[in-house]
Amino acid sequence: MSIISKDISKAIQLLTAEDIVAIPTETVYGLAGNIYSEKAITSIFETKKRPFFNPLIVHISSIDELSTIVDHIPVKAQLLAEAFWPGPITLVLKKKAIIPDLITGGKDTVAVRVPNHPTTLELLRRLEFPLAAPSANPFSSISPTTAQHVDTYFKDTIKMVLDGGACTSGIESTIIGFENDEPIIYRLGSTAIEAIETVVGHVDIKNSVKSETADIPDAPGMLARHYAPKTKTVLTDNVLETIKRYPNKRIGVLVFTSKIESTSIKTQIVLSKLGSLEEAASKLYNALHQLDTEHLDLIIAEEFPDFGLGKSINDRLTRATKN
Ligand code: TXA
Ligand code: MG
Repeated sequence: MSIISKDISKAIQLLTAEDIVAIPTETVYGLAGNIYSEKAITSIFETKKRPFFNPLIVHISSIDELSTIVDHIPVKAQLLAEAFWPGPITLVLKKKAIIPDLITGGKDTVAVRVPNHPTTLELLRRLEFPLAAPSANPFSSISPTTAQHVDTYFKDTIKMVLDGGACTSGIESTIIGFENDEPIIYRLGSTAIEAIETVVGHVDIKNSVKSETADIPDAPGMLARHYAPKTKTVLTDNVLETIKRYPNKRIGVLVFTSKIESTSIKTQIVLSKLGSLEEAASKLYNALHQLDTEHLDLIIAEEFPDFGLGKSINDRLTRATKN
């Protein structure tokens, strides 16, 4: 049985004893362990049923620690870290030899970020080692944005969920790699591409769900089938028309700002009445978790505007349809 608690000292005790603990971040909850403990890291992979080739993100408490983890910091990586940390940007950089291969899936690069959550920042400051933390969900299911989501997944397999409330950003960090010292987006996420471009100029997106490499696990980033509710999900720019194609089904609908009027809808969630993409992103996974418990035949999700966090939301919704 796991305990859900705000007790940072208890989390420190467990992590120091090479146990794993679920921790809050501003994006999603992570399943954390000491990066230098083979026992803890193996346990993260086993608990998530995640393949070992899929590398983990290293969480540090401040930008000052970056040079202890990575060998080379391109100028634009430094600019991004200064602009956005603590915050939802992960940088993939050449790793130092001290970083275990188990963390990086054998790659010579490591993903690293400073999360922006007061509880986890205090935890990281008090620990003597960084934390590896993938999202605290079984491989390819919806990421958790509350302590309760984590508990539902792992109550029988982990000892503690450090409770930091609901995640404020609600989708994973934006992951940026470097090729010839130039930044490339490997995963769209909670930091909008436009915000990144104001700091470092134009950046290309690689391995988004629509790109050809999305299914190659070796390509940095992630697999196309990800973040999937168990319920069949479709994404559309016309919810009403799509409803008509599924007569006599129990339908759940997920929309951005305005409710759809239709008697065929069993449950409907509006993500932001005011049309805020930030608010919609913060509520997205909770809505998918909720819809997934309602024994629906189908979830119909509305496409978001293709800019800012709308791009990241569309990326996750597209992945959710690949189930
Ligand atoms: O917001 C987040 O990033 C959350 C919180 C907990 O920090 N973490 C998270 O971790 O989303 P995870 O493991 O679910 O996703 C990490 C992604 C994976 O798709 C992995 O392939 C990629 O980061 N990644 C990690 N190390 C990498 C590397 N060296 N090169 C390329 N991609 C890497
Ligand atoms: Mg994940």
